[in-house]
Amino acid sequence: MKVLVLGGDGFCGWPCAVNLADQGHDVLIVDDLSRRKIDIDLEVESLTPIVSIGERLKAWEETGGKPMRFVHMDIAHEYQRLLDLMLGNFHLQVALRDGGATM
Ligand SMILES: NC(=O)c1ccc[n+]([C@@H]2O[C@H](COP(=O)([O-])OP(=O)(O)OC[C@H]3O[C@@H](n4cnc5c(N)ncnc54)[C@H](O)[C@@H]3O)[C@@H](O)[C@H]2O)c1
Repeated sequence: MKVLVLGGDGFCGWPCAVNLADQGHDVLIVDDLSRRKIDIDLEVESLTPIVSIGERLKAWEETGGKPMRFVHMDIAHEYQRLLDLMLGNFHLQVALRDGGATM
C-alpha cells in the first residue's frame, strides 16, 4: 500500500514510518521540520541526539529496509501540493504535533 506519513520526522511519525516500510509499504514521509526548528530557535537539544531526516533515511536503507521518500512540506499552508500527493492515491497516517496544523 502507498502511505503518506504526515509529521513523519516526529516522535510518533518516524517509528510509524519505519514500521510501515518494514511491512513492505511504499512510504512517503511529509514533514516541514518545524519541530527541529523549534529546538534551534529555543537553543535547546534533545536529551538523546536526533540525526537529520536525511541521515535517518540513509541509516534505515543501510539496515536493508525498504527505501522511504521524504517531502519537505508545510501541510497547513501548501494545500495544493498535499492534494497532489493525496490524489496519487496515498493512504494517510497522521502524526502531527498538537496545534501544528489546522486542516
Ligand atoms: N509523543 C507521544 O508520546 C504521543 C503519544 C500519543 C499521541 N501523541 C500525539 O501524536 C501527535 C504527534 O506527537 P509527536 O510526539 O510525534 O510530536 P512531534 O512534534 O515529535 O512530531 C510532529 C511532527 O509534525 C511536524 N509538523 C508539525 N506541523 C507540521 C506542518 N504544518 N506540516 C508538516 N509537518 C508538520 C513536525 O515537524 C514534527 O516532525 C500529537 O498529536 C501527540 O499529541 C503523542
